[in-house]
Amino acid sequence: MAALSVLDPVQSDLELVEAEIQRVGQVEYSFLENLLQHVLSTQGKRIRPALVLLAASFHQYRLQFLVPLAAAIELLHTATLVHDDLVDNSPTRRGKPTLHSLTDRAVTVLVGDYLFANAAALCTETQNTRVMQVFGRTLMTICEGELKQIFTAGFWRQSREDYYQKIERKTASLIRTATETGAILSGAPEEQIDALRSYGYNLGMAFQIVDDILDFVGNEALMGKPVGSDLRQGTVTLPTIRLLEEDPDNSALRRVFDDGDSSDEAIREAIAAVHRSSGIDYARAEARRFADLAVQQLDSLPPTPERAALESISEYVLDRMT
Ligand code: IPE
Ligand code: IPE
Ligand code: MG
Ligand code: MG
Repeated sequence: MAALSVLDPVQSDLELVEAEIQRVGQVEYSFLENLLQHVLSTQGKRIRPALVLLAASFHQYRLQFLVPLAAAIELLHTATLVHDDLVDNSPTRRGKPTLHSLTDRAVTVLVGDYLFANAAALCTETQNTRVMQVFGRTLMTICEGELKQIFTAGFWRQSREDYYQKIERKTASLIRTATETGAILSGAPEEQIDALRSYGYNLGMAFQIVDDILDFVGNEALMGKPVGSDLRQGTVTLPTIRLLEEDPDNSALRRVFDDGDSSDEAIREAIAAVHRSSGIDYARAEARRFADLAVQQLDSLPPTPERAALESISEYVLDRMT
């Protein structure tokens, strides 16, 4: 994947982070090494480690602590994807077969655990207990979000609040942690840590809403992962919630959720019903609202290229959905 131009101010430092990530894939045990390299060689967008570096840029920018932290955050994200794809039974990720589709489920769980453990070990290199505490809690929060999604799958009468709670936990929490811990490590004053944390939270909410929109309108080749899979898995996201607000007894959704019909035709009709409703436009407006809130948090920061990059990242997130 080509480097995102919005990450330019930290591009050369991201290369150090990349080297740290690739070191995790070099182990003596060749069976494990092959599996780790399969996961780590597929480049994601690297937004989270870039956010760590950008958030740390306003005070003491100490690479010896920031590189391991940024690598730890990306590894934590990668581990959650390995487990999420297993849970979702998804065939592709970042344009390649998912780990569980190449090996068995037990191995996939353990490789995910191995990455989590590596992430935790790297995080300790920050020598900052506050950062380690936020990091550990975030992993708990992501698990809560993923579990909540599993336990509520197939229930179609979900409220917007239920949805926001889930996406805050499973996605916004880690993006918030990226900016918060970057700011903490730089020794920023508390008001700035709060502002950058709040930026991360709002950006993360926009990010997942956009991901959920792309599940309806996205291009599988561009995204490197399947689209149209949320409804198939019984996952109710904002566009569907909006359709239900407009038409609480929608027959296409009733067929999928009440009658348990998961045939291709039933799913196609449910997706078409969401497209005909105002659901996707409504979700776009919500993503825009969160992205605007994110940018507002940056008001008190000095006008540096890094602040401009944080603003551009929020535009980039919105551009993905159009
Ligand atoms: C995918 O995250 C999972 C979500 C939270 C939607 P990204 O879209 O950041 O995935 P990569 O890291 O670029 O592959
Ligand atoms: C985000 O949710 C997954 C995690 C936070 C681990 P999704 O299930 O929507 O992510 P994709 O669509 O598989 O990337
Ligand atoms: Mg998934
Ligand atoms: Mg998704």
